Formats: sequence, structure tokens, C-alpha cells
Amino acid sequence: MPRLTKLRFITALLLAKCISAQYSATYLPSNVPDKTQNGQAGTNQCGIALNQTSDCQNAYVNSLTDFCVFAPPNPGPDSVIGNTERFEVVWCTKNGTGARLIPDGTITGAHFVQTPDFIQITGIGDLTKINIPAGDAGGELDPHGADGNGNPIGGLVFSSAFGQIQQIHEWTNFVAANQFCFRACKPGPMAPTFCQHIYDVMGCEWNMPGSYDPGFDTCQGDSGEPMGVYGTSTFFQGQPVTPPAHPRPSSSSCTTMSTVGNGFLISGTSIAPPGATLSATSAAVSGASGSTHTPGSTSGAASATKTSSSASRSVIVEGWERVTVLTLGSTIICFIFGSFLAF
Ligand SMILES: *[C@@H]1O[C@H](CO)[C@@H](O)[C@H](O)[C@H]1NC(C)=O
Ligand SMILES: *[C@@H]1O[C@H](CO)[C@@H](O)[C@H](O)[C@H]1NC(C)=O
Repeated sequence: MPRLTKLRFITALLLAKCISAQYSATYLPSNVPDKTQNGQAGTNQCGIALNQTSDCQNAYVNSLTDFCVFAPPNPGPDSVIGNTERFEVVWCTKNGTGARLIPDGTITGAHFVQTPDFIQITGIGDLTKINIPAGDAGGELDPHGADGNGNPIGGLVFSSAFGQIQQIHEWTNFVAANQFCFRACKPGPMAPTFCQHIYDVMGCEWNMPGSYDPGFDTCQGDSGEPMGVYGTSTFFQGQPVTPPAHPRPSSSSCTTMSTVGNGFLISGTSIAPPGATLSATSAAVSGASGSTHTPGSTSGAASATKTSSSASRSVIVEGWERVTVLTLGSTIICFIFGSFLAF
């Protein structure tokens, strides 16, 4: 490798390490333990079974046809998001995640956009079909609850939108009875800013400007300004004057679809594969209950270094570089990078 390339490479490697060091652990669906936070109601070992009472808490945000949202585990008037945010479960468009499937027809508009800093899906529908009480203005889910756990506790997000599948540490998801939005930020120094979670009473359209119209499309887009940031000033929720939402960033290369769905027949907690009838449900479901997930390491320290970039690239680090990387204290390195990044 030419010298400059080497330097750049080491820089990228160290940066990845410093960023991952902020988080207690980084997982993949294949190595995540049953539970990742204390007090977690559901599970992160989700298998692949069809199960409309699944308590899976792994959400995937990949594309217009392959995404999930958090929503209450049980129906009923008490299931407003404000009451259920600590133990919500995952509902997905696509089979194979081990989470509950969003019944076809629930979502009447969905708009996926990929920007340099994040992916985002915004939309509308009848989310009472995924247990949100009618009329609920909803609330926000994110990995930074007041006690340091996530809302929901143990809720994880994975995506392959930025390359290999990886855990997304910075994300924010609003759900209401008639609207939803989910932003998953590309890992990097700007992720906490573009997935800021402190504007939890401001709703989808203020936090995630985008289309909330009927219809389905997927676009490339600009990142726009981060939520709450207006040039050099930052708004905080509760200040006397609330600034308007940012304008919707421009987008391009859009493709449209007529609908999104999975074809499964779903009624209440019963589910049957496309083409079957619901009377065959119990046979279909019990036949599909195997899990392929093997238990993963529960050691946060061991898995904390498993970022895809460091794992796959470290093999090409040459001898002296490896020694340098390993012997320099990571605290010092991160401190230096922290100061560097602050400019
Ligand atoms: C569905 O998930 C629930 C909650 O984890 C579990 O108790 C139940 O056994 C699962 N059913 C099937 C058929 O896998
Ligand atoms: C659901 O997805 C899993 C995993 O991809 C697959 O094995 C299973 O056959 C699918 N079930 C149906 C009924 O399509």
C-alpha cells in the first residue's frame, strides 16, 4: 500500500474503533444474546418462525419493502405508546425476521429515502392493526431512555442499507395510530446528530420531514439539516418559541411501487402463508417454528470490537501497523480523535 493510503486506512480503523467504543456492545442477528438489557420484556434471539405473538425486539430497516416498526405487544385502549414504550415489540413487512408481520393493507403510504447520513421511511396507515389504540397521537422510540436503556428496553435495529448487515446504534422511530416514521443513521460521527432523540413530543413531520402521502416510493435524497438545528442555533423542546419543521430535503432517482406487503393471511394472532386458508393456521404455524439462531456470546467486551470494517480489514494490516494499533492506548487515540473531530 502507498504510504498515504496506509495512513488513511489506519485513520479509518481507529475512527471505527473509537466510535464503537461509545457503545457497550455491537451485535449481529447471528450472535446477539437472548436479552441485551436488564429489564427487557422480549428477546433479541428471534429465530425465523411465523408468529403473531412473537416478542422479538430486533427491527430491520433495509428498504421500502423490508422494514419494521416498534408497536405494542397487546391490543386495547391502555396500549398507547406512552404506556408501552418500554416493552414494545417489532412488526415487519417481510417474513423471515422472527418478528410479527404487519398485516397487508395496514400501510397505505410509505416513502423510503437514502441520504448520505441516514435512511428514513415515512408513512401513513391504519396502525390500529398493529395494536396502537385508535386516536393515539403516539410517541417516540429510541435507544436512549432516561435510565440508559432503550425504549423499548433491549430494542435493537439492524440494517444492510450501508453495506454488510450491521447494528445501527443511532435511530429514532415515531409511531401513532395513523402515521409512522423511522430514521436509522449511518454509523459515524454525525449519527447522534441526525438521529437526535430529544424532540419526542414533536412528532414525525417535524423530526423527519418527508412524504406522508398515500403511495409507495423509494428515492435518493439530501440529508437536510439535523432535527432541531437551525444554522448555528439549536432548539430545545420546551423553549417558548418552537421553530417550524425543516423543509423536506430534495430527492431524486425515485421509483414507485403500487403497494408493499407479504401476502400472508393474518387475522388477530392467526397467520397462514400466502395461498393457504386461515383454518390451516395452526398447522402452518407449528410447522414453521424452528429457530436457526445459535446463542451468541453475552460478553459485551468481546463483541464490542466486531464492527464489520475492523473485522474484515484487520487481516491486511501489516506487522508494524498492527503493533502500533495495539500498543497505543485506545483512550489516548480516542481523545486525540475526539479533539480532532470537534473541529
Ligand atoms: C410465539 O412467540 C411467543 C413469545 O415468544 C412464544 O411464547 C410462542 O411459543 C411462539 N409460538 C410459536 C408457534 O413459535
Ligand atoms: C418465512 O421465512 C423463512 C426465512 O426466510 C422461511 O424459511 C420460511 O419458509 C418462510 N415461510 C413462509 C411460509 O414463506
